[in-house]
Amino acid sequence: MALNLEDYYVLLHPALAIVIGFPMLGLIVRLAWQTRIRRLKIASGERNTIPASSGSEHLRLGRWFSSVVVGLSLVGLGNSIFSTMVLKGGFSKEPLRYILLSFMFLATIVSLILLYQAKAKLWRGIFATLTGMGVILLGSQPEVFRRTDEWYISHYYYGIILTMLMIFSVAIVPDIYQDRKNRWRNVHIILNTIALALFIAQAFLGARDLLEIPLSWQETFIGKCDFTHKVCPK
Ligand code: HEM
Ligand code: HEM
Repeated sequence: MALNLEDYYVLLHPALAIVIGFPMLGLIVRLAWQTRIRRLKIASGERNTIPASSGSEHLRLGRWFSSVVVGLSLVGLGNSIFSTMVLKGGFSKEPLRYILLSFMFLATIVSLILLYQAKAKLWRGIFATLTGMGVILLGSQPEVFRRTDEWYISHYYYGIILTMLMIFSVAIVPDIYQDRKNRWRNVHIILNTIALALFIAQAFLGARDLLEIPLSWQETFIGKCDFTHKVCPK
């Protein structure tokens, strides 16, 4: 086998995205479309054959999906952070930072759980902000490869934006249902149509990153390559 244990760990995040994330996205989009067509047909008095459950099913899967996306980002970020901590001797150099980061992972997960429980607008706002801040703080660590000079094709920036959009979707659910004028519904449709496009792009950007990451035992050799002129030593 050409892979070492640490290389297998890199595969965990892409595999989870492919097996759990993207199939769920397909179901959610289909249910979203049905929800919309059903609502418009009923509003215009047309005959409707779409089941009434499409909206609540979209919501039920959507709530799970948001956790899956936050989880995927945490696994992706955790990969960079904890591999430096464990494999490159980071813990002995900066123990305090890694202990704080471990708490940050836990705090982000707890904030997300509390966001699901919160009913009042204020608490939904607070826990959504805390969850989002947790992901951003973890993403700002020096170990994370951000591709900032090419932010428009960066798997990191797309991932962070998608995570924020999914947290926001959970936070505004009661507003979508309470708003008679459909303003929150329209906000949701616009933002999550953008999210859908970003999710599709994210699959390409992630696959590209996977192609660019060398296997652990090839790293020192690949590191000698000139990435600007795209040549490696003979
Ligand atoms: C990329 C993913 C998503 C897309 C493309 C999407 C899109 C849509 C669309 C088109 C509708 C129908 C709006 C209409 O009635 O015209 C809708 C409804 C809704 N969405 Fe999403 N959505 C996504 C994810 C989510 C998530 C993650 C949540 C919650 C956590 C969520 C919660 C809702 C709710 C509560 C409704 C109203 C359903 C009803 O009328 O019963 N959506 N969404
Ligand atoms: C729901 C979709 C996805 C989200 C929200 C997401 C999010 C993230 C985030 C936030 C990171 C950490 C930042 C970074 O290192 O760039 C990351 C890393 C990564 N992602 Fe994704 N990702 C998704 C799907 C995918 C897919 C489909 C693949 C590959 C087929 C992939 C491959 C990778 C790779 C290779 C890394 C680097 C891990 C490392 O540094 O060891 N991602 N992802």
